[in-house]
Amino acid sequence: HGKPWRSMCKGLVLGTLLTSFMLLLYSYAVPPLQVSVTEIPIPFSCSSHLSPVQAPSPSNGTGSASGWSCRPKLNVMFMKTHKTASSTILNILFRFGEKHRLKFAFPNGRNDFYYPSFFERSQVQHYRPGVCFNIICNHMRFHYEEVRKLLPPDTTFVTVLRDPAYLFESSFHYFGPVIPLTWKITGEDKLDEFLRDPQHYYDPNGFNAHYLQNLLFFDFGYDSSMDANSPLVEEHIQEIDRRFHLVMLLEYFDESLVLLKDLLCWQLEDVLYFKLNARKGSTVSRLTPELYEQATAWNLIDAKLYRYFNATFWRKVEAYGRERMARDVAELQRENKKMTSICIDGGHAVDASAIQESSMQPWQPLGEKTILGYNLKKKISKKHQKLCRKMLTPEIQYLTDLGANLWITKLWSYVRDFLKW
Ligand SMILES: *[C@@H]1O[C@H](CO)[C@@H](O)[C@H](O)[C@H]1NC(C)=O
Ligand SMILES: *[C@@H]1O[C@H](CO)[C@@H](O)[C@H](O)[C@H]1NC(C)=O
Repeated sequence: HGKPWRSMCKGLVLGTLLTSFMLLLYSYAVPPLQVSVTEIPIPFSCSSHLSPVQAPSPSNGTGSASGWSCRPKLNVMFMKTHKTASSTILNILFRFGEKHRLKFAFPNGRNDFYYPSFFERSQVQHYRPGVCFNIICNHMRFHYEEVRKLLPPDTTFVTVLRDPAYLFESSFHYFGPVIPLTWKITGEDKLDEFLRDPQHYYDPNGFNAHYLQNLLFFDFGYDSSMDANSPLVEEHIQEIDRRFHLVMLLEYFDESLVLLKDLLCWQLEDVLYFKLNARKGSTVSRLTPELYEQATAWNLIDAKLYRYFNATFWRKVEAYGRERMARDVAELQRENKKMTSICIDGGHAVDASAIQESSMQPWQPLGEKTILGYNLKKKISKKHQKLCRKMLTPEIQYLTDLGANLWITKLWSYVRDFLKW
């Protein structure tokens, strides 16, 4: 009985020591940036001279309305929210950026911008005032003014939301091991127990507590524990609406990608995808209608946020044309299926233990290997080899390939391997 506790304590102590050590090292390794706050030139678009973008294939191309063609947009701010299939979208952005040789604003050292701290542009690898970046897409706690000063004025802002009840469930399971508030919950189903009486277990000041309530609102930079009925909530939602050109929804992922492709004037190939970072079926518990209600009520701010953007989403679909949307979604699904049969060994995702190449191993949550991955087919025609590999490359490996410096993440993963976490 005592043994697991002992090893957990050992792990905790080691983890704490290591984190402090790394933070210390980091603060020495990276001198704080001295930037005068006044007169920081906002860079003009750095895209035009970088890659002579070939005009999109003349109007017979799949998506765009007949007749007129547009130039692909190259400057994108993707606000990566938690537990919303955003890793799948990241893969799309990575591929597009690579194809057009765009400049990514990557974090320095880890795969996020020191979340849950607010984003600051000095956290960007190779940042200097006036230097231009095309795409930013790693996890951050959104800080509009800072992002605005980093990217060209014509940047398109996009993000993705998910029904907050399911998001909560996913977050609860995924981050549970790093939220001390949940450790003391007993019983068969911790989530059940927590939702029975959230106030009893929740403390907004607890370590990592933000993962437990209104995580979306938190990620967008707002106070996630404010009164859900405050008029400020509505104001903040309006603000998000003003700042983001497209708010996608996980529940309508393919429709979202069709809208994204249309907004950015990209090609169909650019938005093809495989589901990355999916959770093993056995661990995806289904919320009962009652738990769904409780989870929604507990995350009421996010529920309001979601309701608002669900409405704007369908207005956009309406404007796009329902039939046209149905056609384009069908085509996207057809092409995705085709790619699945071309690229994926066995045609579906597999358990971490069944992944042969280490470069295809996805990042796992602490303490369990519940995230699925893929094996590339042995024989892939030359024409598809590159695209297949890119579409299947997990986030951390892709970040490395694109030149992001991830030494903290890597050290951490090494320690975890060593402790068999
Ligand atoms: C484009 O579409 C038109 C009719 O829709 C067709 O006549 C033409 O051959 C197509 N062009 C190409 C390059 O596919
Ligand atoms: C989102 O909007 C659609 C269309 O109006 C509706 O059918 C659906 O129930 C809404 N979803 C949520 C979770 O509110």
